[in-house]
Amino acid sequence: MKKKINLASELVMYLALLAQMLYVIVGNVAHEILGIVFFVSLVVHIVIKRYWFKAVFRNLDKKAASRKFADAVIILLLATACVLMISSMGVSRTLFPWFKFMMEPLFHRYLATAVLTLSFVHGGMHFYFKAKSKKKAVILISILAILGLAIGLALVPYLNRHLRKVDIIFEEKVTGEKVEMTGDKPLVVYFTRVGNTDFEDDVDAVSGASLMRSGGTLIGNTELLAYMVKDAIGSEIVPITLTGEKYPSSYMDTVSVGGKELREDARPGIEDIDISDYSEIILIYPIWWGTVPMPVATFLEGNDFTGKTIYLIATQGSAGFGSSTSFVREKAKGADVIEVMSIYCDDIPDSRDDIVEWLKTIQ
Ligand SMILES: Cc1cc2nc3c(=O)[nH]c(=O)nc-3n(C[C@H](O)[C@H](O)[C@H](O)COP(=O)(O)O)c2cc1C
Repeated sequence: MKKKINLASELVMYLALLAQMLYVIVGNVAHEILGIVFFVSLVVHIVIKRYWFKAVFRNLDKKAASRKFADAVIILLLATACVLMISSMGVSRTLFPWFKFMMEPLFHRYLATAVLTLSFVHGGMHFYFKAKSKKKAVILISILAILGLAIGLALVPYLNRHLRKVDIIFEEKVTGEKVEMTGDKPLVVYFTRVGNTDFEDDVDAVSGASLMRSGGTLIGNTELLAYMVKDAIGSEIVPITLTGEKYPSSYMDTVSVGGKELREDARPGIEDIDISDYSEIILIYPIWWGTVPMPVATFLEGNDFTGKTIYLIATQGSAGFGSSTSFVREKAKGADVIEVMSIYCDDIPDSRDDIVEWLKTIQ
């Protein structure tokens, strides 16, 4: 029975730890609950294995190097898990909002990576003691350690790339080389979450992120690009602004709402934008569910684009232009629609040079 409970607690710990790392998929509340599940299972595991504490420093000189290594891993794992528990409470928004200590999310992620890696090594050591071929066991443990590190250091930041805030100095990113336009200047129309979202006051919290921030001011990804164009050519920039209900503060909730709007082919109400004086429009938008956000569809259907040129600049987390170009072509009847560039979200703050190079081609 004890053995079964122990096995179950170990399994639950591994699964809870891995699931927590998929923060972007499970969301904040589930992440915090999984954290509790992990620590409760850890306590159960420690109670069952309490005899280990009595034996760990006994007969040290007689212990094999592999046993000493396994014990060192356990000690390190326990110490890291304790610090992780404190930092988990520090970064908690839902279950421990009153706990104001160790609130640094990056530190929390590194600790989680260390716990995952050490847990893999700890599990691998069980296998090592039973394995006939110790060489194979060492290879397996090394692979597990690399896997733990890779998940924590590479995969998690990649998955959570939309849940970050990037601190920038607005003027530094936006101002620079100017491009003299010989003809009429195009109008820049952009859609972004900022201005279309009811952000919580505590926007510092991870679930409200995917934003640029300069000083205390939030700036949408596409908004920053619009300002880069404005600075380079002195064009007018106009945000697409919702007139009705705004998007929720949580990034993941916005993803759900955006998906629902796409499925329902919704046309959220937006403030009027007069494009009649312009023959060229630079449309800057984030890719949502592989295409344009539905408020952009409202803008496209609500205006006459006959004979106009629309330049497309998209921002995204992997999708390129997705199917947005064909969508724009279908909705903006009579327009010449040209793909300019699709910018990966992490590259947005440093895109000014690329934008200027392109602006020179249409000057
Ligand atoms: C509702 C929603 C859906 C998204 N869907 C996709 C997608 O399908 N593919 C992708 O690469 N990025 C997707 N993203 C990421 C955004 O395109 C990316 O974070 C963009 O830079 C956000 O720009 P903004 O901050 O100006 O709104 C999505 C973001 C949201 C909020």
